[in-house]
Amino acid sequence: MKKQTISVLGIGYVGLCTAVGFASRGYNVIASTHDAEKAAKINKGIPPFHEPNLQKLLEETVQNGLLNCLINQTETAVLETDLTFNAVGTPSKPDGSIDLQFIETSTYEIGKALNKKNTYHVVIVKSTVVPGTTQNIVKPILEKESKKLCGSGFGLCMNPEFLRQGSAFEDTMHTDRIVIGEYDKKSGDALESLYQDFYGKNIPPTIRTTLSTAELIKYASNSLLATKISFINTMANLCEKIPGADVKIVATAMGLDKRIGPLFLNAGLGYGGSCFPKDVKALIAHSKNLGYRLELLEAVESINKTQPLKAVQFCKELLGNLKGKRVAILGLAFKADTDDMREARAIPIINQLLEEGANVTAYDPVAVPIAKTIFENKIQYASSATACLKNADCCLLVTEWDEFKKLKPEDFTKSMKQPVLIDGRRIYDPEEFSRKMKFTAIGLGH
Ligand code: UDX
Repeated sequence: MKKQTISVLGIGYVGLCTAVGFASRGYNVIASTHDAEKAAKINKGIPPFHEPNLQKLLEETVQNGLLNCLINQTETAVLETDLTFNAVGTPSKPDGSIDLQFIETSTYEIGKALNKKNTYHVVIVKSTVVPGTTQNIVKPILEKESKKLCGSGFGLCMNPEFLRQGSAFEDTMHTDRIVIGEYDKKSGDALESLYQDFYGKNIPPTIRTTLSTAELIKYASNSLLATKISFINTMANLCEKIPGADVKIVATAMGLDKRIGPLFLNAGLGYGGSCFPKDVKALIAHSKNLGYRLELLEAVESINKTQPLKAVQFCKELLGNLKGKRVAILGLAFKADTDDMREARAIPIINQLLEEGANVTAYDPVAVPIAKTIFENKIQYASSATACLKNADCCLLVTEWDEFKKLKPEDFTKSMKQPVLIDGRRIYDPEEFSRKMKFTAIGLGH
């Protein structure tokens, strides 16, 4: 059977991993973006962001002609393929609610293209959108512009993704579940059969449901993960008031309970990134509009806002006044294995340190170029962890990169002015480190 052809709009993490994923299994994929610079990189086989395991397959799929990225050519993308995944960005408005402008403009373009098409085409919303968006915004625009009826004239699905940056490609290829929200059975059948062909015998559990249930599944999943993090951070803060208590052991023991599970119970400086902060805020705003206050998620969000500033508080407890003190920051990215600094915990921490008059030097294996666009020359940038620690009065570990996990107490003590370390991600053994230096960590009772 001839493989179906696929178009993908938007080439952020979701769009690009979807495009490369299908192309790597032999599907012809056309991507389209408004960003000419990104398109040029992709067509040379270079990922526009740091993401492990993506480069090689991107290069291969571009070289063998299975993936082609166009600039602003939604019409061609739709006319020349059987299904379109819409993966454009859905940022936040200043009040936290979702900004659907990119979804609206891209849907308008898809609709116009569908008007010129004589064969059945399925439109799949892959972007994270609040419940009701596909039914109440996407469908009417598509019907108006295509002058066709949804269901008979074209298909419509909502198919959220659950990929994590840093393992985005792996997650795309080996997802725990597929969620298909469908306007009608024909649309859902078309998408499920694409996934059956893609995964073969190894197809993950597939949930078929309504468009809005699919939309909510994404928000509910991210909100629960964010809740686990704020929950364990609350326990960490409590542990600090209980002599001898250690949140890491609390979390390990809790995680052995099958009903709880071990993941997303790492206490630290809170969650950042392009999803959790945005999605939790968007769901709070959406629910408020529906007349229901999400008090639980309001608490999750407010705990996450104050958590990073604890690092600065620790600094002040250990050093006193921070004016003129050299603080070394290890890790700038919002988590390891990415250069993404969106909502990175390093941002409020560094801003607060600067406000207190500290001199900040930072190092990150990959995020320094992005950090320079944020902090410019307000801080110094080091080219290695060792260089960052030189003459520092205090070191703050902010991101859990593997290369930092390998550091020993001596790596800190030999070049710092004062051997003071604050472990914001619980990667160091408190016993070993506190024997050799002034050491404190999130969630450790004294
Ligand atoms: C998340 C979801 O995991 C993914 O399913 C969704 O599609 C997009 O959002 P991502 O933002 O890439 O993925 O990163 P994730 O690994 O979930 O981490 C998010 C943040 O939470 C990071 O800042 C991380 O450091 C923090 N975190 C994570 C913790 O503080 N503790 C944990 O136990 C886990």
